[in-house]
Amino acid sequence: RYFGNDDVSQECKDLLSSLPSEEDWTFGSLCLYQGFWFPSRFLNGILACQNHFQAHSSDILLATNPKSGTTWLKAILFALLYRAKYANSDSQQRHPLLIQNPHDLVPCLELRLFLKQENPDLAAFASPRLLATHLPYTLLPRSVRDSKCKLVYLCRNPKDTFISSWHFANKLKPEEKGQIPLPESLDKFCRGLNAFGPHWDHVLGYHKASSETPEKVLFVMYEEMKEDPRAHLRRLANFLGCPFSEEELRDGTVEGILRMCSFDNLSALEVNKSGNLSTGLEKKWFFRRGEVGDWVNYMSAEMGERIDGAMEEKFYGSGLKF
Ligand code: A3P
Repeated sequence: RYFGNDDVSQECKDLLSSLPSEEDWTFGSLCLYQGFWFPSRFLNGILACQNHFQAHSSDILLATNPKSGTTWLKAILFALLYRAKYANSDSQQRHPLLIQNPHDLVPCLELRLFLKQENPDLAAFASPRLLATHLPYTLLPRSVRDSKCKLVYLCRNPKDTFISSWHFANKLKPEEKGQIPLPESLDKFCRGLNAFGPHWDHVLGYHKASSETPEKVLFVMYEEMKEDPRAHLRRLANFLGCPFSEEELRDGTVEGILRMCSFDNLSALEVNKSGNLSTGLEKKWFFRRGEVGDWVNYMSAEMGERIDGAMEEKFYGSGLKF
């Protein structure tokens, strides 16, 4: 029903038939490609993006594991980067974020732009181009890793990411089929079997890249951003080379961006309350609760410990703690 993708290249069909595959609780089937589990229906877009996307040194890419708060960061980065363009009060009324969904403004390379074509038209994007991806660091198109373009990676507590994914997966499912059994999904998640998983390898790849090349990759935590959004917005602005001026710090520009991109504001906008993205997904599905620690409402302490246990071992020595 979603991400309609019948026009699959022969290269992709051949590759798919040679890859290990597993049943998936969100997208039907997963295939193991270059060490990560991808929804088979996205492989075409992943290959096209890897082979054909040419990064510009001025590009900015938001990278995330699905359900880590991508929608929020897309909005924040868009508002931040293009703030001068929409600064005066008249254009504020028509700010793109008030009339378009963040996923339409900041499209995903492999799920959207390259899913059905090898050469999507990227000419209409303002410079710097702001794009998104769920690809793991090691699978990014060569030009992204080789060029001077910048990456912002948003990471979220794995327990909340898992619960958010489980809710999302239930939306994708025909209602008459009932809820997806949570324990089975949990079991798969802890074995690394989820879209763009293993979760830990995705996080660790960007974490390592950010430690080795901090001028290229900024690692941001959802929870920290929630706790002190002002400080983190300034950190993002500094990293992206568009720091707030003294005047902006005084005149409420920072607060204005945070207010516009807040969960309450975005989720209440007509454009986000109804209608579908071109992928078929309903826009309102991307706004559920937007809170830290919501997992406790769905999992026992024991189930939470299973995720912690699976992650701790992998994150050991990295300095990452959730
Ligand atoms: P929950 O399901 O925990 O509510 P993604 O955008 O990567 O698909 O992630 C979706 C998660 O981000 C959902 O989490 C959603 O509610 C939350 N989210 C969406 N908009 C947000 C915002 N403006 N601020 C904080 N969280 C937001």
